[in-house]
Amino acid sequence: MRFLILSDIHSNLEALNTVLEHAAGQYDQVLCCGDIVGYGPDPNAVIERIRELDPRVIRGNHEKAALGLVDLSLFNPLAKRAALWTQDELTADNRSYLKEIQAGPLDVPPLTLVHGSLLDEDQYLVDLEDALENFPLARHPVTFFGHTHIQGGFVRFQDGRAGLLNPEIKRGANESQLRIDPEQRYLVNPGAVGQPRDYDSRAAFVIYDTDELIVRYFRTSYPLETTQAKMLAAQLPQYLIDRLSLGR
Ligand SMILES: [Fe+2]
Ligand SMILES: [Fe+2]
Repeated sequence: MRFLILSDIHSNLEALNTVLEHAAGQYDQVLCCGDIVGYGPDPNAVIERIRELDPRVIRGNHEKAALGLVDLSLFNPLAKRAALWTQDELTADNRSYLKEIQAGPLDVPPLTLVHGSLLDEDQYLVDLEDALENFPLARHPVTFFGHTHIQGGFVRFQDGRAGLLNPEIKRGANESQLRIDPEQRYLVNPGAVGQPRDYDSRAAFVIYDTDELIVRYFRTSYPLETTQAKMLAAQLPQYLIDRLSLGR
């Protein structure tokens, strides 16, 4: 089985469409680690595109925000403005779709999906220390997570050694492979489709072939100026517009 794993699309239709074009013919099933909406200018079009793909999906904190399920005073002011804008934009039908999305962890054997981490759907899994607290909860060799918008992840070997996964995708290259040994444990972040924060503005995604036991990390350029122009027209915060080209 070949899974296309998407995370943190954040209402960025140009990034989503580009990723789907790039991945066409290379996957059997789409999985999504949450944050379909928030920040970007196309919440309805992105939800509709996602619905067509019929993915296995879990919610992110931005789905909760768009549905009014979280205290927005906990969001930074710019994220809050975008969340309120998204709440106003959503059609009733798309709001119902978001409501039906369950919280992770979600097992899709032989893997698990979470938004933040196995411990907490809202945890930012940034350093190895946090990852080490999560490995004992793993139910499959590979757990996919999002929320940090940083492509890569963590590995723990049977002998207790552990480390960061740093996909070496230098500018110009667009793919890096990780061979999975089912005896080890992996926490893999496919990166953000719609708002990368790892100093690379290209859309990020992963394809996991569970027969070949290979995770393929990808980056692909998309017409981000189009997304930025739509955000400007929607009067979304300038910082959110700028960060798409900065990739952080
Ligand atoms: Fe996100
Ligand atoms: Fe998130």
